[in-house]
Amino acid sequence: MRFLRSCGAPARHDIYAGIHKGLRAFMADTLLRVGRLDADDSQAVTEALAAIDALLDLCLSHLAHEDAVIHPAMEACQAGASRPAAEHHEDHVHAIGRLRLLCDTLRHAPRPDRAEVAQRLYRLLGCFVGENLLHMHLEEIDHNDCLWRHYGDAELQALEGRIVASLSPAEMAVGLRWMVPAMAPAERLALLAPLSAKLPAHVFDGLMTVVRPHLSASDLVRLEEGLRQAA
Ligand SMILES: [Fe+2]
Repeated sequence: MRFLRSCGAPARHDIYAGIHKGLRAFMADTLLRVGRLDADDSQAVTEALAAIDALLDLCLSHLAHEDAVIHPAMEACQAGASRPAAEHHEDHVHAIGRLRLLCDTLRHAPRPDRAEVAQRLYRLLGCFVGENLLHMHLEEIDHNDCLWRHYGDAELQALEGRIVASLSPAEMAVGLRWMVPAMAPAERLALLAPLSAKLPAHVFDGLMTVVRPHLSASDLVRLEEGLRQAA
């Protein structure tokens, strides 16, 4: 795996940057939540299991979109280019199954056993997060290298558009909830200003309702000022 991208190259459209920042944030937040979980607190256990469930749903839908849209585009230009990541995806599906089983074990564990099961879940989730961090890095370096050599930015934006168009409103809301707060201010504006221009006002306001509680006061002021100027 390469860890450095050459400097000085013109900026290109990065199909992975935003969603991967969101996934990193969601994974880190959920791992910390499970680590500090009081296994005797039934409400906290229920909430932690719901967070893991939502994270795993997002991971599954994300890898399915990559398999369906991005990998065929890569294979069309460079046979085998997506194979390592596709194999990772198969491993991730199995890991998600194991995590869901362990979540069920915690959900139904008698109270004296819960702390030990929660600890096992924390460690297994940590392994899953670690593998995903390395996997996302591979995609951001090796896949972008392939995509940028064979496709223009408009074509990459069209691929991304196919994925976005396939999202349910609920998937869109979960994705934005984690992506937007995890982004740099300029990235937030670049993502949201076109949506503000394109979507009916009540739909965009609904998305902002999901995002707003997770931004700091200063980040929110900056974003709303940027959206006003872009309108
Ligand atoms: Fe992936």
